[in-house]
Amino acid sequence: MKPKVFVTRPLPAPAMELLSSVCEVRNYPEDAAIPVSQLAEECREVEGILVNSARVSEEVLQAAPRLRAISNCGVGYDNIEVEACNRRRIPITNTAGSLEETTADLAFMLLLATARRAIEADRYVRAGRWDRWQWGLLHGLDVHHKTLGLLGFGGIGQPMARRGHGFSMRVLYHARHRADESVERELHAEYADLETLLRESDFLSLHVPLTPQTRHVIDGKAFGLMKKTAILINTARGPVVDEAALVEALRSGEISGAGLDVFEEEPRVNPELAGMDQVVLAPHIGSATGETRLRMATLAVKNLLAMLAGERPRNIVNPAIYS
Ligand code: DGY
Repeated sequence: MKPKVFVTRPLPAPAMELLSSVCEVRNYPEDAAIPVSQLAEECREVEGILVNSARVSEEVLQAAPRLRAISNCGVGYDNIEVEACNRRRIPITNTAGSLEETTADLAFMLLLATARRAIEADRYVRAGRWDRWQWGLLHGLDVHHKTLGLLGFGGIGQPMARRGHGFSMRVLYHARHRADESVERELHAEYADLETLLRESDFLSLHVPLTPQTRHVIDGKAFGLMKKTAILINTARGPVVDEAALVEALRSGEISGAGLDVFEEEPRVNPELAGMDQVVLAPHIGSATGETRLRMATLAVKNLLAMLAGERPRNIVNPAIYS
């Protein structure tokens, strides 16, 4: 008998076909987060879940006594109650390795767009306001030879360092664990403590997962340490930044701009942010290219199949369950 699995969003056809060749698959038909109570209902009989951004809570786990594999289609898995899975020895995987370069591209796009006022410039031309070349029109900030600060130096932070070096930037990073000297040398990145990172960065880009330790790590105090000309880039998770403090920092000129792909209460965007020209907004599209989404979905399927076959998957995020 094929194992029953539930998929929380429609996936690209090749990934669904691969999954269906081995499993009996039901999926939520909408490209939206399935409500927790409905997910719990759908999971009564299943052995595996392939989840994208839906919450896998205690309620879902309690409703799913046969569940033995959770494959998260995304690198961040703050949507899953990991401790509750650990207690039940349910393995969880993510799709690390499939989307980092693509997300770094988006982070660098936000950096350039904010520094060089790309969205304002586009609006200006489309509105028919451009009537002559002007010396003083839409001055932005130089990016080259500035300091790029990276908070987090993992799968996305490191490709971001490469992009910064390619733009002749000085690259500083802060992370829980300092990288090997050889990695620092290869990426031309210098380690800094958090305070130095905040004080010296012209562009501060966030690449940490959301954990109790990183929630609101960028708060009013952090903005107080940053340069008045600094630009904040967030493609990690909204709650890493205290959004009310960000609004205040932008309003009072404590920093000069922000490029944001993630928000504290998605999809709600603080209306004050939406009204600020010095802020560039995107709707959580860090990994949104056709190629990458297919790679993510295929990897998520392969991880799920490996777990269901009793194998230890490559992308395990809670390896402690095996000890
Ligand atoms: C990720 O991979 O974590 C992206 O944010 C998509 O959820």
